[in-house]
Amino acid sequence: MFTGTSSARRQSDKTARTEDWAASGRLIAAVAHELKNPIQALGNALFLLEKCLRGDALPNRYLKAAQEELGRMKEITASILSPYRESPPRRAVNIPAVLDSILEFYDHKIKFKRIQICRRYSSVSPVEASAGEIRQVFTNLVINALEAVPTGGKVVVHAFSSRDWSSPERDGIRVVIGDNGPGIRPEHRRRLFEPFFTTKTGRGTGLGLWVSQVFMERLGSRVRLRTSARPHRAGTCFSVFLPFDRRTPIQAR
Ligand SMILES: Nc1ncnc2c1ncn2[C@@H]1O[C@H](COP(=O)(O)OP(=O)(O)OP(=O)(O)O)[C@@H](O)[C@H]1O
Ligand SMILES: [Mg+2]
Repeated sequence: MFTGTSSARRQSDKTARTEDWAASGRLIAAVAHELKNPIQALGNALFLLEKCLRGDALPNRYLKAAQEELGRMKEITASILSPYRESPPRRAVNIPAVLDSILEFYDHKIKFKRIQICRRYSSVSPVEASAGEIRQVFTNLVINALEAVPTGGKVVVHAFSSRDWSSPERDGIRVVIGDNGPGIRPEHRRRLFEPFFTTKTGRGTGLGLWVSQVFMERLGSRVRLRTSARPHRAGTCFSVFLPFDRRTPIQAR
């Protein structure tokens, strides 16, 4: 049974953990910021080297590899810094259109893994948000689902009118992205939104969910999740609530 004291201790542990993440997030962002100039300089040097090398096959292969890795470094620093940039102005965003364009972008992966996509959008009005941030959140959730499912797996993408579970007076849209992948192990669940937490060794940076949570918090919302790793019933379902928030004036397109 939970006592008042243990619940207060849990709350204070949670607050301390959130403060730790915020502090380490700021430190990581400062390092990423400092790395931007040397990365740029390295890119310029590799570009000049490419001009000198001309047709020499082997050195060119090494150069290509270096350029690819440098591109990855640029992506990582951009991801780390994105939550610290000022949020772009909000405007009316058509959520089904964003979801469709993300699914279209990953069509080759969907076809390659023969993934069944089950999409359902029920009469959803536009929400006021930063289109780029919304796109980044759903791209992260969709790509995680596509990566989690086995060949022939299923991913559902639903958007419907809803109310905020934590403040029911707020109307908005809920977007649910579910998959029948292996689910998330209990010991990993509480670390999912930490920067750099990944189980995709060598492939993932572990920044996708962290960045998504920061963007959702800017909208006064959170990424929620339900997952099961039980055999035959495994799967994960992420959901986000996007409020019809009219407090900040939206910018005309
Ligand atoms: N749909 C899912 N099914 C199972 N595990 C998931 C799912 N989504 C996220 N995870 C787990 O959460 C971890 C963190 O996800 P996150 O998107 O933050 O990073 P990542 O996908 O590993 O790397 P990247 O930065 O490239 O997105 C993943 O490594 C994976 O273990
Ligand atoms: Mg990811």
